[in-house]
Amino acid sequence: MFNRFLAASVAVAAAALALPAAAQAGDPGETAFNIRCKACHTVAPGGAAGPVAPNLRGVVGRKAGASSYKNYSPALKAAPITWNAASLDKFLAAPTKTVPGTRMVMAVSDPNQRKAIIAWLAKQR
Ligand code: HEC
Repeated sequence: MFNRFLAASVAVAAAALALPAAAQAGDPGETAFNIRCKACHTVAPGGAAGPVAPNLRGVVGRKAGASSYKNYSPALKAAPITWNAASLDKFLAAPTKTVPGTRMVMAVSDPNQRKAIIAWLAKQR
């Protein structure tokens, strides 16, 4: 009886431990996006813009400033950029240097974090 109780407790404890481990195993790009980008951006299906920034679903392969977002800066709208891994990496490293006049000011200095975010964005189609 006692042994069975003990075995059940161990199983419950193991399950409880497994949960946070699973949560941590999420996509590092998604985690970084949620922390650094989601306050302004959405990747919701349908393309509707977030309250203050363009929807980033499908951004890889899209021309800069070409979503249905209404409040693009003239600078980003006119920028001769198509978003791919290289152009996103450059933009995210230093947005206001890459596109002077852009209203996107969130730089990501860590190259690994940029890579993870871009890889995750590429899957949001
Ligand atoms: C404080 C709000 C804010 C945050 C945080 C933010 N952005 Fe932006 N982002 C903007 C705005 C506003 C624009 C539109 C800029 C313009 O029109 O010049 C933009 C534009 C962009 C664009 C160009 C979209 C297009 O349609 O051409 C990309 C790509 C982008 N952001 C990626 C990111 C990523 C990745 C993060 C997180 C690391 C991030 N942004 C964080 C506000 C934000």
